[in-house]
Amino acid sequence: VVRGSSKVGIVGAGSVGATVAYACQVRGVATELALYDVDERKMRAEVLDLNHGLQFTPVASVVGGGLEALAGADVVVVTAGAKQHPGQSRLDLAATNVAMARDLVPRLLEVAPDAVVLVVTNPCDVVTYAALRSAGLPPGRVLGSGTVLDSSRLRYLVAQRCGVAVPSVHAYVLGEHGDSEVAVWSGARIGGQPLERCAPPGTGPLDRAERERIAEEVVRAAYDIIAGKGATWYAVALAVAQIVEAVLGDENRVLPVSTLLQGWHGIDDVCLSVPCVVGRSGVTRVLEVPLAEDELAGMRRSADSVRSVARSLGV
Ligand SMILES: NC(=O)c1ccc[n+]([C@@H]2O[C@H](COP(=O)([O-])OP(=O)(O)OC[C@H]3O[C@@H](n4cnc5c(N)ncnc54)[C@H](O)[C@@H]3O)[C@@H](O)[C@H]2O)c1
Repeated sequence: VVRGSSKVGIVGAGSVGATVAYACQVRGVATELALYDVDERKMRAEVLDLNHGLQFTPVASVVGGGLEALAGADVVVVTAGAKQHPGQSRLDLAATNVAMARDLVPRLLEVAPDAVVLVVTNPCDVVTYAALRSAGLPPGRVLGSGTVLDSSRLRYLVAQRCGVAVPSVHAYVLGEHGDSEVAVWSGARIGGQPLERCAPPGTGPLDRAERERIAEEVVRAAYDIIAGKGATWYAVALAVAQIVEAVLGDENRVLPVSTLLQGWHGIDDVCLSVPCVVGRSGVTRVLEVPLAEDELAGMRRSADSVRSVARSLGV
């Protein structure tokens, strides 16, 4: 449903950026979508293809051009940059994409000074931190899509195992959007019940070994998809469209987006995903949810890993 008059800018019209545009168009999250990519030919082709769908969607216009096409955007989604090749981790992309963010974000804010900046480019947490540092904005205005996607992957696997619909599973993956992420089983619930009680009769409990296997499958998911089709795009695009909706609709929706941590369980000066309240000005509250001891230790390891990559690049 289109809410008022609103504009979403998308930087990068590759697999992820174009699919984010498509998801935003189909869901009608804004009245105007604007695309920018250094590969102008590809961007023009995507804009044309999306325009030919306007008859069937509630969005008023899809435009493209140089960075100035994003003028006045309420939200800018950053998907530009290098992507993972088979076998590469997200952190391997850091140097290239941090440099891209540092160059892009100040120029972006000149044309869209009021935008909430939503970083999707990997490694999402390091690039979000670099974007925040070069933006000079209040921390809540720059966020990363983080583990909204990973949490949805976890919920899908748990839902399958427990025989319930995916949205009925309440469970988060927190920390890095990447190898050191943490599945928070201690707070996971279906219908208010802890997961141990949610396995269908006769299937045995969802014991520790099985939980570990599921968490590993969540971490491996992107690698498997990249091995099979070169990149991932559908689920991330839907996750991003939901975050954009939360911002434009001022929904105060709780989402595990990547945000600057300032004393969260004692963790400081790093961007990681934790449950956040997301509304019109971006992240308005960071929730310090209770964690089991091993989960907290996992979050600290995740923070160290992301912070050390950022520091090695001078951010
Ligand atoms: N956070 C997540 O959950 C998630 C999920 C999937 C992919 N990703 C990441 O998203 C990024 C994009 O992935 P993709 O598959 O769309 O890659 P892609 O190669 O298909 O597209 C990237 C696009 O960015 C453009 N680009 C590069 N530098 C630019 C710049 N400075 N300004 C404007 N445009 C620029 C390229 O021309 C290209 O069209 C990658 O970093 C990938 O790892 C993140």
